[in-house]
Amino acid sequence: MEQRKILVTSALPYANGAIHLGHLMETIQTDIWVRLQKMRGHDCLYVCADDAHGTAIMLSAEKRGITSEQLIDEVKQQHMQDFADFHIGFDNYHSTHTEENRALSASIYKALEANGHIARRSIKQLFDPEKKLFLADRYITGTCPKCKTAGQYGDNCEACGSTYSPAELIDPRSVISGATPIEKESEHFFFRLPEFSDMLKTWTRSGTLQDQVANKLSEWLDEELQEWDISRDAPYFGFEIPGAPGKYFYVWLDAPIGYMASLQNLCDRTDYKFDDYWHKDSTAEVYHFIGKDIINFHTLFWPAMLTSTGYRTPTAVYVHGFLTVDGTKMSKSRGTFVNARTYLEQLDPEYLRYYLAAKLSSGIDDLDLNLEDFVQRVNSDLVGKVVNIASRCAGFISKGFDGMLSETPDNLALLKEIQAASEDIARHYEAREYSKAVRLIMALADKANQYINDKEPWVIAKTDKTSPQLQAICSTGINAFRLLMCYLKPVLPAMAAKAEDFLAIAPLQWRDSGELLTNHQISKFKPLLTRVEADKVKAMIETTQQSYADKPADQPAADTASETAETGLEPEIGFDDFIKVDLRVALITNAEQVEGADKLLRITLDIGKDKAGNPMTRTVLSGIKSAYQPKALIGRLTVLVANLQPRKMKFGTSEGMILAAGPGGKDIWLLQPDSGAEPGMRIT
Ligand code: 2FM
Ligand code: ZN
Repeated sequence: MEQRKILVTSALPYANGAIHLGHLMETIQTDIWVRLQKMRGHDCLYVCADDAHGTAIMLSAEKRGITSEQLIDEVKQQHMQDFADFHIGFDNYHSTHTEENRALSASIYKALEANGHIARRSIKQLFDPEKKLFLADRYITGTCPKCKTAGQYGDNCEACGSTYSPAELIDPRSVISGATPIEKESEHFFFRLPEFSDMLKTWTRSGTLQDQVANKLSEWLDEELQEWDISRDAPYFGFEIPGAPGKYFYVWLDAPIGYMASLQNLCDRTDYKFDDYWHKDSTAEVYHFIGKDIINFHTLFWPAMLTSTGYRTPTAVYVHGFLTVDGTKMSKSRGTFVNARTYLEQLDPEYLRYYLAAKLSSGIDDLDLNLEDFVQRVNSDLVGKVVNIASRCAGFISKGFDGMLSETPDNLALLKEIQAASEDIARHYEAREYSKAVRLIMALADKANQYINDKEPWVIAKTDKTSPQLQAICSTGINAFRLLMCYLKPVLPAMAAKAEDFLAIAPLQWRDSGELLTNHQISKFKPLLTRVEADKVKAMIETTQQSYADKPADQPAADTASETAETGLEPEIGFDDFIKVDLRVALITNAEQVEGADKLLRITLDIGKDKAGNPMTRTVLSGIKSAYQPKALIGRLTVLVANLQPRKMKFGTSEGMILAAGPGGKDIWLLQPDSGAEPGMRIT
């Protein structure tokens, strides 16, 4: 087989937030693919970096009272540690805020300009007069001009779905300072994307993209493409545009160039050559693994920029769907927005790697991490099937035969069958149909277990611990285990390393599945993987929930198109779900500070009388401290979700939830005292 030269990337995580399960799904998907290539003997590099630029990062640093540079250094260390602990085997992990990226971005920009692909014109935007900052749409809130719902972000209303320009919002406010924004004009730089319309029509249909993605893109390509605004005015954390003081590259211009910069940084330390990958005549393969929210950046802007500047375009862009947990979008309040670190405090990273592999396919559908299924699946497949094969055979081999495997296995046909699956399994991995690969592997594991069940080595051992037949049966089992571990190694590198230790063999390569282990002495069996405990999964969710319980709601996060693509709303619930919510008018009889909590007030509520005429009260911990003086709340009416399960929080138990509405921060609205409502009234 000819050796392929391959460069692979995962999307660069923003440098202002922790790595979470969503990032991990992508890097695990990519890492499995890269490990497969390496095991198959190909020359495959996997590079990534932190995406360090943009307003969000600048503002996060400011909020913490540190410089942007300090923030991105700190976060990069954490990201690298998280990825390493999930066994993500990057060949290099760099940052977009580096000299390599500055030089590459400048040279690419200069080439775009020299080729006539940069336009300049003035545009009007909303500007925060206090912060002296132009405001991206998500940094503006106001009342929807159509349906008059307050607290809507930027350019679309979550209540009625209409779109508008931020300047049309009624009573617009800067999310950053609360000031009323003013309109201001400034010159922006644009990439002339429409010039690449024909090139992109061909490129997106040339086998570089999954069909679903290419179809989506044709919809965009059939309409007229827009020029892409690639500049931002100071203050901005990024690279200043050459020859344009006070103008910076928009984070999304230099982000994909970060893939190149990371490779450049690796080449500077090794014998690898940048041009072997990015020169327009390069025969190397280049793949970007990304999520479906950032398709346009990778399949329109990026290939167009590369084409203008004389680089090669990627061989393929592999798009995956989103990760959901228990059927819904990851949620902070439900505790399913789990960070890598929180997971690692409770669980083995290889559980997640396996579970995702068992469900991943090459499509762009969302993948659901169902927590019950997760426990069940990992335990039954990995512990119950794979490890079980080794653990049932290893003891007899050590005790009766000093660890020596037999000259000939008892069931060569079984081993041949497992060996024969090698190419099919590799093909599924290569096609990113990991679930198919895993299904095949597990079917073979079932056969091996069935064989051991039928042969009952423990029965033979009772009468003769040194019977040659016993040795041959258990050697068959151990060989089956070795082959299955070889196939699972891209998914479970740490478990495979332990298996290699136990088997006393060199690191498994794919071609090793063509051989068997005979007349070979193995080491003593040690546990390779322990069962997933459901309690640990629960603890992970509770810790996550806890960690967000006393934190202010997030400001809009990052400079990405994904935020506008999604509504940000939780998935729809049916009327039957809604009707279960018992909403009552409640009178606030007391409200007090909660010691040590930044956001919470302890609120006592009168919700009328029960059927026997006894007064009913509830105590609720509510995160509205920023909006009210506790005293001002006493005597006011609010709406209580009265049948919410009591929830243990860091500062006590909360017996329900009060409903308030508003843009967050200072304005949260409760019912007016003179609304005519009475405590205990059910709202329907
Ligand atoms: O969406 C994101 O999280 C971006 N930081 C991804 C960048 S990928 C690449 F283009 F740099
Ligand atoms: Zn509206």
